[in-house]
Amino acid sequence: MPVIAAVGGQWGDEGKGKVIDQLAEAAQLVVRFSGGDNAGHTVINPHGEFKLHLIPAGIFYPHVVCVIGNGVVVNPAVFLKEKAQLEKRGLGTGNLFISDRANLVMPYHRLQDNLEEKARGGKALGTTHRGIGPAFADKAARLGIRAGELMDKDAFRERLGSVLEYKNRLLTKVYEAEPLSFDEVFEQYMGYAELLAPHIKETTAMLEMAAREDKVILLEGAQGTLLDPDFGTYPFCSSSSPLAANGCLGSGIGPTDVDCVLGVYKAYCTRVGAGPMPTELHDETGDFIRNRAGEFGTTTGRPRRIGWFDAVAARFTRRVNGLTGTAITRLDILDVMPRLNVCVAYRLDGKIIDYFPADAAALERCQPVYEELEGWLTDTSAVRDYEKLPLKARKYLERMEELMLCPVNLVCAGPAREQTITKTPVW
Ligand code: IMP
Repeated sequence: MPVIAAVGGQWGDEGKGKVIDQLAEAAQLVVRFSGGDNAGHTVINPHGEFKLHLIPAGIFYPHVVCVIGNGVVVNPAVFLKEKAQLEKRGLGTGNLFISDRANLVMPYHRLQDNLEEKARGGKALGTTHRGIGPAFADKAARLGIRAGELMDKDAFRERLGSVLEYKNRLLTKVYEAEPLSFDEVFEQYMGYAELLAPHIKETTAMLEMAAREDKVILLEGAQGTLLDPDFGTYPFCSSSSPLAANGCLGSGIGPTDVDCVLGVYKAYCTRVGAGPMPTELHDETGDFIRNRAGEFGTTTGRPRRIGWFDAVAARFTRRVNGLTGTAITRLDILDVMPRLNVCVAYRLDGKIIDYFPADAAALERCQPVYEELEGWLTDTSAVRDYEKLPLKARKYLERMEELMLCPVNLVCAGPAREQTITKTPVW
């Protein structure tokens, strides 16, 4: 039985939460491996509608062990709030673990995120203001504090003392902000320590055991490949890697154990925050899709930017993830569109190109070259078999396969669990 990484193929918000919720039924373990509470996974299932930022979308199955991996930065307040909300609605959290190696989001991270965005003025990145960038920067700078460190009060006091002294110098001297009180932060995090203790654990041994026993393990990605600091629209990107390769680094599973990599794509494109998006629609079609699909950020509520499906970008994200298959979500949103555009190339400075440029300024100048396809003008939300989809919808999906050079495994035509069509099994 396989280890499957499910990753976003666009700019995030592709519907990974729904796909993971669906696949988790057959899994024994679901591991979140990147990002932090900047992510927003909406899940609609028989328990109701949930918006998860940190807790893996496998939490709805009592038999599934959920792990927040070492590659995630954890804001304890957000974790505890989410856990309380799940428990209030009758869901168990006894099978929920946080890697002792996961870095913590500290109060100064959120402050720094806000202050840095403010300092960027008109050039703001449009972050989620959750402190995620500063938390990952501190991890790389070896200034991070890890979940496991909360379990040793004296060591935590010493570590926080030295880090906070540095952070307060930064806050006061660079940003001219107020310093944070050591006692307040210490007491707050010691309070969290008590509540987090049952969840903090060394998690790599449990994953190795599950892999050896041939259990199904899902590696749950956050954000999307085009927000990756290496392969995304740098610097308009997030700060941890949403790629499948980071599914290994962010969980402690070796690359030789991963069997399938599923890329999740919307049937069109969306983006939140600043940065280039070649197929963006600045017209009433974009507004129509946004309103029809309710495209507003799960984490920030911001209206999402809308565009046609970008097959140049999708082919690129297929490549850098080594996808074995794809899930295409929100097909039903396009049910009422008489004609659809798919971007098959870009026009850059007068030349036609078929690659995704590394340089954000060049990408900003790229004009989409579209292929027009006919819409199917039929409600697909009740279709359960691929062959029962309207011919024109199948043509659209099969053209996506040709352009991405990757098979479609799943098609989602609505938010509920049962509104998923298997074209070919994921594994
Ligand atoms: P940060 O991750 O909060 O630093 O934000 C950096 C960029 O990534 C911004 O453009 C955000 O809007 C975007 N971003 C971060 N997380 C998500 C997500 O889960 N979905 C979509 N966009 C995201």
